[in-house]
This record gives sequence, C-alpha cells and structure tokens, in this order.
Amino acid sequence: MQTASRGRFITFEGVDGAGKSTQIEALAQTLRQHRVAVVRTREPGGTPLGEALRTIMLGQAMDPLTESLLMFAARREHVAQVIEPALAGSQWVLCDRFTDASYAYQGAGRGVPADRLDVLAGWVHGRLQPDLTVLVDIDPDQARQRRAQVRAADRFETESAAFFQAVRSAYLARAAAEPARFLVVDGGAPAPVVTSKILERLSQWLR
Ligand code: TYD
Repeated sequence: MQTASRGRFITFEGVDGAGKSTQIEALAQTLRQHRVAVVRTREPGGTPLGEALRTIMLGQAMDPLTESLLMFAARREHVAQVIEPALAGSQWVLCDRFTDASYAYQGAGRGVPADRLDVLAGWVHGRLQPDLTVLVDIDPDQARQRRAQVRAADRFETESAAFFQAVRSAYLARAAAEPARFLVVDGGAPAPVVTSKILERLSQWLR
C-alpha cells in the first residue's frame, strides 16, 4: 500500500506501433494488484480540451511550430488538471507519451529547433520530469507492419520511413543522454517479456 507520499510519474514512448498501449494496460493491472492507485492517461489528450486538440492535430496539416504550440497547450492543461493533482494525491500516473515525444516528432521529425522546445517545456511543466520513461524501441518498418494490421493511419502514421527513423534515433539519443530516467526495452520481443522487464525496474518502488 502506498503511503501519503507523492505518486510516481511514468511515461511511455516509442514510434507508433511499438506496443506501448499493451504494456500500459498490463502494468496498470499489475500495479492495481499491488494496491497502487493508478491513473492511465495519454498525450496529446487526457483532458476534454486536450482530446479536442488531439482530434485537430491528428487530422489536419499545419506548420510544425503551430503543431508544437498545440502539443504544449494540450500538455499544459494535462499537467495542471490531471498529472499534478494525481501525483500530489499519491497516485501513479502512467502516461502514453509526454515531452520526449515533442523532441522526437516535432524536433527530429519536423525540424523544430530543440531550443524552442526547451522554452515551451520550461513554460509548461517547469521542473516536473517523469520519474521513469519507458522507451519501447522497435524497428520502424516492423512497427509499420503491425499498425497496418490493426488500424487505419492517422496524419502522423502516414509519414515516411525516414521520418520514423529520425524519430527513433532521437528517442535513443535522449535515452542515452539520461540513462537514469530511461528504461529502453525491445518492442520486438513478446509482450509478456517486455512487461516483466518493466516490472523488474518498477519493483524498487513496490513494497
Ligand atoms: P499516440 O497516442 O501514441 O497514437 P495512437 O493512439 O495512434 O497509438 O500518439 C498520437 C500521435 O501524436 C503520434 O503519432 C505521435 C504524436 N505526438 C507528437 O508528434 N508530439 C507529441 O508531443 C506527442 C505527445 C504526440
């Protein structure tokens, strides 16, 4: 049972089709079995305003800086309305994507300079950083094949192979730069294997 301490903020990243959702679902179930109060959420989205912005961003072409501003606008609402209150209430937040995605997609994918994203990140969430970021790493071609089997592509998912290679490289570079915050798992491995690797890392926080 968690004490009245601050909750844990855990984010999940990876190219589209890496298998994040499956992992988040499995982890949420296991954590609840450990009597941890879990909030599952996602970006862009997680609030009514954020979900409305998500619909716009996933459906409509726009300038990359506009896209960045909307991502961070949705994020601000999410941090203020959902993430901070949950953490303050000792809940663990499992969040499907956060600011690392903006550096990977808007930064590496679309060419928005990192220093602009730094400014937005500072504005929107100050010193708040994930306690752990799970990078579900996978070859983008394999991820594309997986996606094609399960759903129609949104505006991001129709991007080129080169775009997704850039996104993947940016994620791996961020993980290498901050090894204490990141856990990199092989998204090509069977889902239960990936789940147990993540649980191994979380076990330090579970009593
Ligand atoms: P996601 O919810 O992972 O997609 P899906 O529900 O289809 O699995 O993310 C939606 C898209 O948003 C994804 O293609 C990546 C993009 N994205 C950014 O470009 N920047 C960001 O900061 C975030 C959070 C997401």
